[in-house]
Amino acid sequence: NNAIGVAIAGLGTVGVGVIRIIEKHTAMLEQRSGRTVEIVAVSARDRNRDRGVDLSSYAWVDDTTSLADHDGVDVVIELVGGSDGTALALARNTLKKGKAFVTANKALIAIHGKELAKLAEEHDSFLAFEAAVAGGIPILKALKEGLAGNQMSNLRGILNGTCNYILTRMENEGLGFEEVLADAQRLGYAEADPTFDVDGIDTAHKTAILAALAFGVEPDFAAIECEGIRAIASVDIDYARTLGYTIKLLGSVRRTETGIEQHVHPAMVPLETALANVSGATNAVQVYGDAVGETVYIGAGAGELPTASAVMADVVDYASGNNRPAFGVPSNELKKLIPVSSDEH
Ligand code: NDP
Ligand code: HSE
Repeated sequence: NNAIGVAIAGLGTVGVGVIRIIEKHTAMLEQRSGRTVEIVAVSARDRNRDRGVDLSSYAWVDDTTSLADHDGVDVVIELVGGSDGTALALARNTLKKGKAFVTANKALIAIHGKELAKLAEEHDSFLAFEAAVAGGIPILKALKEGLAGNQMSNLRGILNGTCNYILTRMENEGLGFEEVLADAQRLGYAEADPTFDVDGIDTAHKTAILAALAFGVEPDFAAIECEGIRAIASVDIDYARTLGYTIKLLGSVRRTETGIEQHVHPAMVPLETALANVSGATNAVQVYGDAVGETVYIGAGAGELPTASAVMADVVDYASGNNRPAFGVPSNELKKLIPVSSDEH
């Protein structure tokens, strides 16, 4: 049988996007991966909710954590969210059975990524999380593959679509923080708990994952100094503009002589630079490699289809046998992070 059987856990914004892409691009996905990608099972909390897609040809599994046990499942796509509970149990069960685990869950990977990468190696399974960082931008692939010949010196990025959307509308329309946050939630950009977005926690999860891929260190979310955008008022943005700057929430990592420095904080960004002109839910990542110099990646950072696009990159990698270590190097080679802090904002 040439097909790979997919199970989808979580049928919210991203889960529905994945179903739409697989149904729309069945033939193209087969051409690109050499195998037919078939959804065989789905799971969420509420079986009766109308999700705008027809689920009748897929088996419904009540116990989400057991999806890997369902007949014909080769790859489980986890789009439930949360760093513990269902997502973690599902990840462990799936990888221990030697099956593939694909996720968009940055909280899970930032906190349990090393353990899961080790499990994947021990059980000869597949672990990938392209959608966990910068939405539709294939930044993890860029770091793991395209930039593999570079030693990175630093990277920084606009990594949270919700915050950038809020800051953009505060700047352009003079709106208040709370009212724009409600729109970001309606558009499917925000986390289930939006404090993760506005307090910088989501950006810190993504920064920890980027640090691991770019610098070969263990993802260590707890080591990141983190400040969000709650304290920023429209007047601050106006004032920054009169000085020739805009305000962006940035995640940054750099190599120093003594260790790896990581921060998440709102920063004054000069108006003439690429990052200053990234607006709405768009994300951007700027990476410096010793051979290539600076490269910048810009694209949709959140939302149904952009995020599902990144999930599908992992599914096609699995289907076509491209099984690189999840963090670019085997998990036992990830170095313990030596955190360095600086007051430079
Ligand atoms: P949603 O809140 O839209 O959907 C979550 C889904 O998970 C729902 O279908 C929900 O079921 C289901 N679910 C929640 N808890 C459980 C549980 N305990 N057991 C079984 N199913 C459960 O989330 P998103 O689609 O927005 O996000 C999914 C993941 O993708 C998260 O990790 C998020 O951080 C990540 N992500 C999201 C992006 C976005 O733009 N939205 C972008 C990049 C990553 P039900 O519908 O029945 O309530
Ligand atoms: N809540 C996240 C954001 C989703 O706004 O960027 C994408 O990871």
